[in-house]
Amino acid sequence: MQNLYQAFQEQFETNEQPSLFFAPGRINLIGEHTDYNGGHVLPAAISFGTYALGRKREDQTFRFYSMNATESGIITCTLADLSYNNDHDWANYPKGMIKYLAENGHPVAHGADLLFYGNIPNGAGLSSSASIEMATGVLIEGLFNQEVARLDMIQLAQKVENEYIGVNSGIMDQFAVGMGREDHAILLNCQTLDYHYAPVKLDQHAIVIINTNKQRALAGSKYNERRSQCEQALADLQQQLSIDSLGELSSEQFEQHKHLIQSEINRKRAKHVIYENERTLEALKQLQAGNLKSFGTLMNESHRSLQQDYEVTGLELDTIVQAAWEGKGVIGARMTGAGFGGCAIAIVQKDTIDDFQKNTNQMYRETVGYDATFYTAALGDGAKQL
Ligand code: GLA
Repeated sequence: MQNLYQAFQEQFETNEQPSLFFAPGRINLIGEHTDYNGGHVLPAAISFGTYALGRKREDQTFRFYSMNATESGIITCTLADLSYNNDHDWANYPKGMIKYLAENGHPVAHGADLLFYGNIPNGAGLSSSASIEMATGVLIEGLFNQEVARLDMIQLAQKVENEYIGVNSGIMDQFAVGMGREDHAILLNCQTLDYHYAPVKLDQHAIVIINTNKQRALAGSKYNERRSQCEQALADLQQQLSIDSLGELSSEQFEQHKHLIQSEINRKRAKHVIYENERTLEALKQLQAGNLKSFGTLMNESHRSLQQDYEVTGLELDTIVQAAWEGKGVIGARMTGAGFGGCAIAIVQKDTIDDFQKNTNQMYRETVGYDATFYTAALGDGAKQL
């Protein structure tokens, strides 16, 4: 923390002590690719995330500096022009957030100096971008004495992602980052935005995050392709069913009506969504009842469905999850996030974690040719001032 304050004072040539804010990253325990289909998700905020330091300025200039992109130096813009700028690289995330807050009832009269430091690996599917957006949100709220309803902040951050950055993602990431609670997961109904917290009591077990270190190349275009396949499947089903989203269908209804879906590929995509939605609700029940084993089995089924029906895993995620399944003391493992690379999670007996990492990595390296990285995750709070 001391280093961050020092870096702030050096970069912005000031003796002033900035205010400090933090927004976490997230994992998703189960409920993948269901958010933009009006289904349920079960994510949790993690203790890794983005630190944002800031102080108000007298003029209308914004200056941004990231300790994760020191080569970009200080990026500058003014309050009058917060539009997207290719040259502004990562700083478009905070810029977009400031712009959308201003346009939606939270204008600021002055600029600010902002420094960011993130300890979530970039592009690993742990929502580093939602974390930067929400860190900016709480920073603007805190520095300028604003009160932003948390759900508004979350929805504005999603809008930044969708419209300002141009990634057509659902609401899960910003919601988890904004609403996380220590030692809890959040069950969110993405159609109604009803949610509740579920304590995650793992006793002798821990959640291990495994980064495949495969960057999620092509993730954007494949993600959008999956979205439109689901939209097409929904349109086909709507010929006979009056539903607004795939998330409204039970698996029984799906089995009765799946013949309406014209393309076999779209049928498989819809099948994943509908069964995954049911698995998520079932997983919550098992978690609440303390049935970790059943919870783990549902995680494994989720991965298989993402592999075979949704087809968003790929060699790296399949290899790491298969290796994890073979480990001693493993309750369950699956990919987490959008897929196409990025991270998997596993629930592992604490006293076997060292062996688990060694063996899993060895199998991974033999097939893929490079190492995976392992983190033990604590579930933490949502975005806030520290
Ligand atoms: C990404 C998106 C989320 C969600 C997941 C898949 O993380 O940002 O909205 O769709 O993929 O579950």
